[in-house]
Amino acid sequence: MRQSPFRDRTRLAGVVASIDPRRSTPTAALSSLPGERPTTTHFSVIDGNGMAVSITTTLNDSFGSARVAPGLGFVWNNEMDDFATRPGQPNLYGLVQGEVNAVAPGKRMLSSMCPSIASSAGKAALVWGTPGGATIPTTNLQVMLNHLLRRQPLEEAVAAPRFHQQDLPDAIQIERGRFDNAWIEELRKMGHEIRERETIGRVHAIAVERDGTLNPVADPRGGGAALVVVPRAAAR
Ligand code: DON
Repeated sequence: MRQSPFRDRTRLAGVVASIDPRRSTPTAALSSLPGERPTTTHFSVIDGNGMAVSITTTLNDSFGSARVAPGLGFVWNNEMDDFATRPGQPNLYGLVQGEVNAVAPGKRMLSSMCPSIASSAGKAALVWGTPGGATIPTTNLQVMLNHLLRRQPLEEAVAAPRFHQQDLPDAIQIERGRFDNAWIEELRKMGHEIRERETIGRVHAIAVERDGTLNPVADPRGGGAALVVVPRAAAR
């Protein structure tokens, strides 16, 4: 299991010890801190009774609307950008939409977020999701197809290379260095524009295996941790 830097107590103690309350800390000295993503996160949970929760929560852009709720301490999101504030023009994630998603009273903006639960015989079989703006549905779909259709173990299904197409821009986005060059050339010959980018999505998922054991997986692309917690009473 991948150890999240946020759960590494030795490392955290080192960070605390590095703070001098009498002197300002140069920002450059903080570069070794674990990178906390500023926008969206997803987590998946299954309890001992098989009850499942799949949550994707977002500020939308980095630090949302850059306003903190007075007295409460959380940052307000800027989900308003998920409306087509200028129909026909791309939003933050390059999505081009029309009047249907225009701002109007009583409407809810279109969201790509899709926290997911697949069930079998009324019981959760796979709980999963990801941040990633417009790439969320394509990431979720690829993990689902890899695991539930191709029967890849969940670790492989999550780690597998990802691609994304969102209509406009009219290009297939692929994770850099993860796809076969011959395959890329073949697609280019067919007229597809291929754009490489760094990673796509950061999935957090739990599969319930046939024998009922839980297999939690945090994306090797980083930022998460996965574990099974056995309550003390049950462990005795
Ligand atoms: O609701 C949506 O589709 C977007 N606000 C999600 C933004 C997001 O996932 C950014 N994360 N990396």
